[in-house]
Amino acid sequence: MKKISVLFVCLGNICRSPAAEAIFISLLEKKALTDRFTVDSAGTGSWHIGKKADSRMRIAAERRDINILSRARQITSNDFDVFDYIIAMDNSNFRNILDLKNRTSSSNFASIQKIQNFRSVFNEQEVPDPYFGGNEGFDYVLDILEDSVGGFLKSIS
Ligand code: 4NP
Repeated sequence: MKKISVLFVCLGNICRSPAAEAIFISLLEKKALTDRFTVDSAGTGSWHIGKKADSRMRIAAERRDINILSRARQITSNDFDVFDYIIAMDNSNFRNILDLKNRTSSSNFASIQKIQNFRSVFNEQEVPDPYFGGNEGFDYVLDILEDSVGGFLKSIS
């Protein structure tokens, strides 16, 4: 059976989208669904290419037994052709993803959506960027994402 492929996207690909990717992978493991999915994350920006996720996010996630292993990369036009779902963390990411798709005349293959469309517990319409804030912001992002990433998985499996 063809795997379902999912790409989570934020700005830098060192805080929110690596966390969303790791939460999704952790849920797949708990539900014995790992073999059915390909999961990745990317940033709209290029500053952090090749870097591990922000240590503040990795430490906050580890406290929940979630391992963030990804290295940052930038989204490319090819992603629109290969991923079934491209999931933005905030409205700015969403617009930048659509701009890139339009600029590069990429295919309409990928379904491009915002992760907070799948929220149920938290009312946040966007996942706030924790990069310039305090440590509590990283925990809050994880709380929000555990809710909405779980909702997203339910919606497609
Ligand atoms: P992310 O957070 O988009 O959740 O990875 C950010 C990381 C880095 C920067 C901005 C946001 N930055 O400006 O370098």
